Amino acid sequence: MKTIIEPFRIKAVEPIHMTSREQRQALIEQANYNLFALQSKDVLIDLLTDSGTSAMSTAQWSALMQGDESYAGSPSYFRFEAAVRELMPFKYVIPTHQGRAAEAILSSIVGGSGKIVPNNTHFDTTRGNFEAVGVTAVDLVIAEGIDPSVDHPFKGNMDLEKLDKLLADQSDNIPLVVMTITNNAGGGQPVSMANIRATSEICKKYEKPFFIDSCRFAENAYFIKLREPGYADKSVKAIVQEMFSHADGMTMSAKKDAFSNMGGWLALNDEDWAMQARNRLILTEGFPTYGGLSGRDLECIAVGLKEIIDEDYLQYRIRSIEYITEALDKIGVPVMKPAGGHAVFVDAREMLPHIPALQFPGQALAVELYLTGGIRCAEIGSFMFGRQPDGSEKPAAMELVRLAIPRRVYTQSQADYIIECFEEIYRNADKIKGLEISWQPAAMRHFTSRLRPI
Ligand code: F0G
Repeated sequence: MKTIIEPFRIKAVEPIHMTSREQRQALIEQANYNLFALQSKDVLIDLLTDSGTSAMSTAQWSALMQGDESYAGSPSYFRFEAAVRELMPFKYVIPTHQGRAAEAILSSIVGGSGKIVPNNTHFDTTRGNFEAVGVTAVDLVIAEGIDPSVDHPFKGNMDLEKLDKLLADQSDNIPLVVMTITNNAGGGQPVSMANIRATSEICKKYEKPFFIDSCRFAENAYFIKLREPGYADKSVKAIVQEMFSHADGMTMSAKKDAFSNMGGWLALNDEDWAMQARNRLILTEGFPTYGGLSGRDLECIAVGLKEIIDEDYLQYRIRSIEYITEALDKIGVPVMKPAGGHAVFVDAREMLPHIPALQFPGQALAVELYLTGGIRCAEIGSFMFGRQPDGSEKPAAMELVRLAIPRRVYTQSQADYIIECFEEIYRNADKIKGLEISWQPAAMRHFTSRLRPI
């Protein structure tokens, strides 16, 4: 059969609500043209994030009742720890309430002014946490990774030459190297096993720990199976195990590839760092056998980790992103190619060439998508990344709009509706206007800034 169907049926449904364009116009004005300020009840299809928005399975809902809420030594923790270590065999597994808490703990250990942390591309919270402790966060993705139109099987790869050079020049200031899989800010693009292995070897040469920011590890592993010579006959589970065998530690948001609505962890091999991390955890999250989580969340993650490596699911998952990407491409909408793992990325610089980078073409397109169809998505461009630590403005490497697809949530007819909205926007693209910021906070401005049309 050539149709790849959703490998599940629906047991509980959640109504979504239609609004008119006039209503949405008033709502977006009230929200100061910032989509994070909308109430989700006023959104028809919510593609703001794939994080914490998965539909849970019957097995996960059943597992919730097994949750043991003991403060210390809960069996739920040990089931969670075993599920993590089956895929990622690190010595110490430290639960946190979500990914950024793991990042904050890690950065509190390695931070300090003058330090540098390389990554293929830091995501916003990763960058934010490192910068908050004085670290300069450097992105070293390959050149193909920042050209939306270039086709390359592993656009998330680290530029190995640049990494080697940075380590040769600045070794004393670099406490660790991070790799983000898939490369979220760079289009949800995967990293090859060869690149993970080579990055790990460079880290060994300079005696630096190598950590993986692992949110979408299963999607990355499935791309390796599909695209990297030698992996077609390996199971996704074996590929995942191999990916992590090259690393010294990981941070994780269980809100992505663990099908959980909340959760995360830090896992690592170094005993000294693990002890420092657990001390910090006790101060900010909770006792080491629950971190920031309930026992029931730990149970849910343990089940989710088994479901996420199911290859029927991954085939459907990757195809559903590709389906929208291909349809938009056919209309003429410039999309990041090839399709990423968790989201469709539209190149707003190319689609709205009349809007300069610092008038935020991505945000303007995201607002138009809401006005046209009640669809909410996120800008990943100069609105998110343009402001520099010294307060100046610099256009981001790309002006992308991300349609992040929640896991197991939307159907194919909803995907067709998204495509139809783009058809309409594409016809009238030259009428879309840029935006300016009327108020912004000191950091992470995309979440709370107020904007207005120019
Ligand atoms: N690292 C990456 C690559 C991420 O995509 C995220 C979250 C985090 C770390 C932080 O995890 O949200 O559990 O604290 N990304 C979400 C997104 C929010 O929409 O892409 P968290």
